[in-house]
Amino acid sequence: MCGIIGYTGPLQAKDVLLNGLSQLEYRGYDSAGIAYFGPETDVHVVKTTGKVAQLRELCKSVREESHCGIGHTRWATHGGVTVENAHPHQAGKVTLIHNGIIENYHQLTVDFQLEGKLISQTDSEVAARVLDAIYDGDPLASIRRLIPLLEGSYGFCILFSDHPGEIYAVRNVSPLVAAYTHSGSIIASDLTALIPYTKKYAVVPENKIVRLTPYRMEFYEMDGQPARPEFLEVNWDTDAAMKNGFPHFMLKEIHEQPEALKNTILPRLSRGLPDFGEDKIPDALFARCSQIRIVACGTAMHAGMVARAVMEPLLRIPVLVSVASEFRYEDPLVSEETLTIVISQSGETIDTLAALRLAKELGSRVLSVVNVKGSTIARESDFVLYTHAGPEIAVASTKAYSVQLAALYMIACRMALVRGKMTEEEGAAFMKDLLDVIPAMEEMLRQSEEIKNIVRPLVDKPDAFFIGRNLDYAFSLEGALKLKEISYIHADAYAAGELKHGTIALIADQVPVIALATQDRVFSKMISNVREVKARGAYVILITKNGAEAAADLADVRIRIPDLHDRFTVFPIAVVLQLIAYYASLLKGLDVDQPRNLAKSVTVE
Ligand code: M6R
Repeated sequence: MCGIIGYTGPLQAKDVLLNGLSQLEYRGYDSAGIAYFGPETDVHVVKTTGKVAQLRELCKSVREESHCGIGHTRWATHGGVTVENAHPHQAGKVTLIHNGIIENYHQLTVDFQLEGKLISQTDSEVAARVLDAIYDGDPLASIRRLIPLLEGSYGFCILFSDHPGEIYAVRNVSPLVAAYTHSGSIIASDLTALIPYTKKYAVVPENKIVRLTPYRMEFYEMDGQPARPEFLEVNWDTDAAMKNGFPHFMLKEIHEQPEALKNTILPRLSRGLPDFGEDKIPDALFARCSQIRIVACGTAMHAGMVARAVMEPLLRIPVLVSVASEFRYEDPLVSEETLTIVISQSGETIDTLAALRLAKELGSRVLSVVNVKGSTIARESDFVLYTHAGPEIAVASTKAYSVQLAALYMIACRMALVRGKMTEEEGAAFMKDLLDVIPAMEEMLRQSEEIKNIVRPLVDKPDAFFIGRNLDYAFSLEGALKLKEISYIHADAYAAGELKHGTIALIADQVPVIALATQDRVFSKMISNVREVKARGAYVILITKNGAEAAADLADVRIRIPDLHDRFTVFPIAVVLQLIAYYASLLKGLDVDQPRNLAKSVTVE
């Protein structure tokens, strides 16, 4: 969850670290700190609670030159948000930063008699003290002895005060990428901090040790032998990770959706049909399974809910969706005949990764839909379909959701073709409908101002309800999540037909209800449900297709989306629901991109 960075080279380390931390801040923003070698080879630490901007202020008083250091932006797990708990942590000759959780920290505290010595309440400081206790002047050997003692996940960057100019790093589960450039060596938990310096980077392999010096980057196996990492090249540049004139990353990313969809769909079209040849995904994968399990978290799981509603009726095989953190404990019915589809923007979500590993253990083949190239989930999957959304920085996921949907729709279409559930003609029509969502999304983006005005009456309300039937229900789930995570308005989604079984008790005068009625098959039933909430005083924002005039007088406000086939309305609806959440947060004066208590990638269970 935390952002970590290390730099050694000719540039001012303080500047490289602070700029990197600003790029990584979306990974955690409770507190931040840096450590650097001073001119006397001593290691100095500056840290504070709050955001990177506060750390930057504090660092203004740092006058001395430094060319080697490490930096951290924290999402609190062990221990509250205090300066003591902020990273880096120091113990003797060791200064370290950590992303992850050391699960056996308590046992280590006992074994190494650390009680009474710890300054913070963090598991990370325990790791620093254990490393200092076993340190014998040889960093590589000492890290090798440390690793078997640790249980849990970690990405560490470490300075040893008697090895100036050098940074050591090691990881298990938690991500680390590193690069050697003409401006020195750099390592970080995320690519966004590296791209100002290079496009070529190495994914630090698990349980290998990296030594960075200003002149080289070396990887070692645990037995001390040199190791070879995998080098990758990123296909986006610094601009993609900047706001480019938008006030927030979230708004920029909402606007990037049409382009992201084109990038995800067009390279995979062959004679109008989906073709995964370049992705090396064989048709046999789709032909032989007898059920599909979709596993993901948060927004990615909601994309899975939509995919389920499209796939099962089309493919006529069971398609089940599980929240990844539950999947592991529900003793899932998974076998060699199951195709598991894992969805993740970051490719690092720990619950999703654990579910993937379990599915593989149970014999299932795993196809992942991932945005971040070379991420752990991508590497551990049997097959990967990369979405090409570019970097998503805002904590609230937007463009990742729509490209996940596009990728899943393409999988549905390819599978239907392979399994004889669609003719080529039907497949081409399906793909044409998918491409038609792009102008439909653009049309909704042009209505941003109207949507902003529609949102105004919502912002002082404590609750909001999203209702819909069938696919509209799956879309509602995402609308509610988006609204609550960035506006802090309590929002929930309900299958509209289920309301009268309890929830309608909460509908009173002026309670906002966002009603989605874009599914022709259940339109009239949905309108009856809208009448029910209206009769109880709800303030109704009704979203329908352009042509649906039936309920013209029913709602307080009406939003019309282009007239698409039912299956495809999710794309323009996603834009509407994202903009509702965005403007609610903005009008409340909240931190849109970095909402409280959250972090972009959730690498703890
Ligand atoms: O990186 P992932 O797609 O695996 O992340 C999954 C969720 O943590 C993520 O979608 C989260 O729910 C977002 N904050 C929602 O906007």
